[in-house]
Amino acid sequence: MRGDLPLTLRVNGSEQTLPAVPADTKLLDLLRWRLGLKGTKEGCRTGGCGACTVLVNGESVLSCLTLAREMEGQEVTTVEGLSGTAEAEAVQRAFVEAGAVQCGYCTPGFVMALVSLRRERRDGPPDLPTLASELGGNLCRCTGYYSIVRALAGLLAAPIPPELPKSTFSVDPGRSP
Ligand code: FES
Ligand code: FES
Repeated sequence: MRGDLPLTLRVNGSEQTLPAVPADTKLLDLLRWRLGLKGTKEGCRTGGCGACTVLVNGESVLSCLTLAREMEGQEVTTVEGLSGTAEAEAVQRAFVEAGAVQCGYCTPGFVMALVSLRRERRDGPPDLPTLASELGGNLCRCTGYYSIVRALAGLLAAPIPPELPKSTFSVDPGRSP
């Protein structure tokens, strides 16, 4: 089609060349429908839920708001690319142990955002309220927020809070578990 251009990028460590990518293709759709990487979830498509979070050159990015062609020459990591790494396993274990996975639709986005937050902190892990606040862009439609906070506490080896930290996600911070 007119305006389609080839695109070369690295995805999960492998170079990918796609012969014709329309200018308006989102990175989310490229990953899911052209490369078959369905671990990256489609939620709101408007930047409001975090389900589509991936890493671009190690930093978390919302793939529904990112044009695929901006990825020329970039390194993209999806949740499949973290499989088997110690950091992803630590996050996944914490989620499972806390019962923080219900339908699981939001989980890849949380895993990607958490891995990015833990990597970018050179001065040690953020405390629990900070971490919960920084994950405010990730929504869980099953509303398993307290379990997710327990998973974060497990990850940080921090005490489990009696209630959700203030400014946690988008729920009433005063709500009891
Ligand atoms: S699908 Fe991208 S933020 Fe919701
Ligand atoms: S576990 Fe279902 S959306 Fe979060």
